[in-house]
Amino acid sequence: MKVVLMGYMGSGKSVIGRKLANTIAYKYADLDEYIEKGEGQNIVEIFTNHSEIYFRKIENAYLKKLLDTDGNFVISLGGGTPCYSNNINLIKDASNTSLIYLETSIDTLTNRLFSEINRRPLISHLTNKIALNDFIRKHLFERSYYYNQADYKISTDHKSIKMLAEE
Ligand code: S3P
Repeated sequence: MKVVLMGYMGSGKSVIGRKLANTIAYKYADLDEYIEKGEGQNIVEIFTNHSEIYFRKIENAYLKKLLDTDGNFVISLGGGTPCYSNNINLIKDASNTSLIYLETSIDTLTNRLFSEINRRPLISHLTNKIALNDFIRKHLFERSYYYNQADYKISTDHKSIKMLAEE
């Protein structure tokens, strides 16, 4: 069984995924970390040394590899993973997967992401909170078509990691 978590950057996919895997005694895999390990470069370096298109290509290949790995896993995707390369259908068509969308409000995402803007290549050019808030609003509007194809949707605002893992 693969429990797959998707959601925007800063929605808590990694921290909730780790906690969930621990709670239900599944292995844990973070797609971004899996890519970084495989490539020997971090995400910022991959975007800078190559391009976003290159990243999307390898993201699809590493996702396929993870879905093909035997065993029970909780998998945290990158924020854009379900929105490219038909990854959403790859996940939905894989046997024994459950796809969960962690939904977080735009204001919470803005506050969280503003403090770590340099670690996120897609938003590192934004210089203030208003610009970030506008960017997220538009981006989420585009991406919600994919996020809304989840089997389950969980709102994350005002809930602890423990509560979210239990939910
Ligand atoms: C991305 C989100 C990032 C990472 C890459 C692109 C996106 O993952 O995969 O920077 O397109 O939203 P997190 O959501 O884990 O930050």
